[in-house]
Amino acid sequence: MEFKHFSVMAKECIDGLDIKPDGTYLDCTVGGAGHSTLIAKKLKNGTLLCLDKDENALKVSQERLKTFGERVKFFHCDFKDFKKAMQAFNIDSFDGILIDLGVSSYQIDTPERGFSYMHNAKLDMRMDQTQKLDAFFVVNNYSKQDLAKIFKEYGEEQFANNIAKNIVLARETKPIETTFELNEIIAKSIPAKFKFAGGHPSKKVFQAIRIEVNRELDGLCDCILNLARSLKKGGRLVILSFHSLEDRAVKNAFNILKTDCLCPPEMPICSCGHKKEIIVLTKKPILASEEEMKENSRSHSAKLRIAEKL
Ligand SMILES: C[S@@+](CC[C@H](N)C(=O)[O-])C[C@H]1O[C@@H](n2cnc3c(N)ncnc32)[C@H](O)[C@@H]1O
Repeated sequence: MEFKHFSVMAKECIDGLDIKPDGTYLDCTVGGAGHSTLIAKKLKNGTLLCLDKDENALKVSQERLKTFGERVKFFHCDFKDFKKAMQAFNIDSFDGILIDLGVSSYQIDTPERGFSYMHNAKLDMRMDQTQKLDAFFVVNNYSKQDLAKIFKEYGEEQFANNIAKNIVLARETKPIETTFELNEIIAKSIPAKFKFAGGHPSKKVFQAIRIEVNRELDGLCDCILNLARSLKKGGRLVILSFHSLEDRAVKNAFNILKTDCLCPPEMPICSCGHKKEIIVLTKKPILASEEEMKENSRSHSAKLRIAEKL
């Protein structure tokens, strides 16, 4: 199957990075190398370091970017471990960093990866196929309370308790093995008049399980702080998020980084000594154009935030 993924707000991201031909850039989520190809094209003697926790995505992008030769480097890791990649290639700072959060269309559209409620497949949903935790384990081993909690927190699912209760009941008879078995349980847990109110009835629960399996929000805010701190003066941090929980982590990190003092407001004088580290270039997040939204449904929920290192 061909690796197809339309890069969201590609021009806006590249403009946001303000690429210097001799600069050093980090693409935290190379995916199908859409954004990275545009970055690499703008480099002369510069370097682009590409990360992904999906080995298949790295393999595909290595092939797609091979014309750029040694200028482009690849490293398999969670971007939260980006310092390991910096060490491996002896890089001490960046002129620009891009994060395009979430899953790629390729991952969603490859049935055997088990991300999609539209295809029948084994429950999996791992971006990094070398990791142990998968959707099968979550669905068949988490307690009713923990399932309800992740459905509420990560999926904002109104019927979280009922769905969790029915999952636990169903797995008493036999393990829940496939996406379609899970669809069935979700569908019967949601009252008829709400079933299609917010799109497909499984949408929120699948999103929640995916976030849990891939630990997508764990440490995201802290990681953004660390990424900003590895930028050179004038370097750019460009982040695309796709749901409110991701965007909240980005906003929280930007709020910390752009503020001079983090003491509670009742403190008469500053004791934290925190100095602002960035200016936020996007007062409000940039959204995809109507044209892009027509072409690529994935861009509908996208929010782009850009900051510059002081
Ligand atoms: C939306 S796609 C990126 C698409 C890419 N920008 C392009 O234009 O082709 C997201 C990619 O990031 C990877 N990914 C998501 N979270 C990650 C993380 N925490 N660490 C490393 N890679 C991650 C996924 O495996 C996926 O390949």
